[in-house]
Amino acid sequence: MDKLVIEGGRPLSGSIRIHGAKNAALPIMAASLLCEGKVQLQNVPRLLDIDVMLGILNRLGCSAIHKGDTVIVETSGANTCHVPEDLMKQMRSSIFLMGPLLARFGEVCIYQPGGCAIGERKIDLHLRGLSALGAKIEENDHQIWCRASKLKGNDIHLDFPSVGATENIMMAAALAEGTTIISNAAREPEIQDLQHFLNAMGARIMGAGTDTITIQGVSRLEPCDYEIIPDRIVAGTVLIAAAATRGTVTLTHTYPSHLTSLFHVLRRAGVQIGAYNDIITISSIGRPKAIERIVTSPYPSFPTDLQSQIMVLLSLADGLSLMKETVFEGRFKHVDELVRMGADITVDMNSAFIRGVPRLYGATVEATDLRAGAALVIAGLAAQGKTVVEQIHHIDRGYDRIELLFQRLGGVMHREAPILRQLDLA
Ligand code: UD1
Repeated sequence: MDKLVIEGGRPLSGSIRIHGAKNAALPIMAASLLCEGKVQLQNVPRLLDIDVMLGILNRLGCSAIHKGDTVIVETSGANTCHVPEDLMKQMRSSIFLMGPLLARFGEVCIYQPGGCAIGERKIDLHLRGLSALGAKIEENDHQIWCRASKLKGNDIHLDFPSVGATENIMMAAALAEGTTIISNAAREPEIQDLQHFLNAMGARIMGAGTDTITIQGVSRLEPCDYEIIPDRIVAGTVLIAAAATRGTVTLTHTYPSHLTSLFHVLRRAGVQIGAYNDIITISSIGRPKAIERIVTSPYPSFPTDLQSQIMVLLSLADGLSLMKETVFEGRFKHVDELVRMGADITVDMNSAFIRGVPRLYGATVEATDLRAGAALVIAGLAAQGKTVVEQIHHIDRGYDRIELLFQRLGGVMHREAPILRQLDLA
């Protein structure tokens, strides 16, 4: 297994381009199945999860390739509605295949999806949504079958604004007969990106970005070229790393409006942030201030996907901070690792009490999930001494070679691959 070795304690500085959003690219790649022909997607990051989605599309009979930052999916050859179990287990986002395959073939067979172990991660809202569009659902020990000879629009209220369920319903409803209205829909920017993509294929969808999305079904969608939005979580991770190392960094190719809640928190911590067009600058000198209370919640509130990273900054802040996680129940696994680096954090149910310490110290730690892993990299960059982060395949799921990203900003870190894999790569 690869490891990251980090020599910490140096302020980050310089400029970095932010890559495309994984969470926008994955549903959009799945949605390409809604048309027959060649879909071309730009600004698609090179990540493990993207590789898994390419693998699934190819196994479904499509021809899907990644060249530079462009993904080309020729969907005409798609010939099965059965998502391969081995790939389904590797990634939660394989669930996005449900809506498109159901709409295209009238049936879909999936398995319980895998992904980061950050909570129970049920799929009941996806299934209820598709069932409201007329799908018959049958579950056995490990398979889930959805069948509908014709999907029909309906009013669907989500008990919780689930990102994935909103997206799955939008994709299935795009080709349903009649109008679907999703209320209490998730409002994340990635949902707006999916709406823009589907509309570029000829769908009639409005309201993404608000809590009510209206989808007027159409009978056919056409292939298109589309550019994926920048990754707000990668941008946020770099901003927090700059703040934690007391550096000065410029980010390009971003959408600053997607990061408003993070800006608010960083400013409260005493960090200076400026934004102009697609550029964000951050500058941080001195010790960050503690923040009385941060609560993670669906967009536009503070994102759960930046909770572990911001906890590193709060670990170094002057005073006591409270972090409350309301989206996933199992998302404090990074705490034990941060404590091994000298952080003073106590967890009670879904609240973490963080008493800031003047510095963190290098240690050997383990990435337990994607964002927890990113947090440990930030901690390593800010800490005194050497940090080794293990289990970094989790980090590779969402960051394109994170070591290069931070090396460009003056971070001293490298990847160590086992000898056998090095020979393999040579
Ligand atoms: C997406 C993001 C992920 C982010 C999360 C919340 C992608 C590929 N991933 O994940 O990075 O952390 O949004 O912002 O876009 N839930 C149910 N039943 C369901 C679906 C969800 O109870 O059918 C619950 C989940 O267990 C969780 C909460 O709703 O507690 C949020 O999940 P959801 O918004 O669906 O997240 P994902 O789409 O999985």
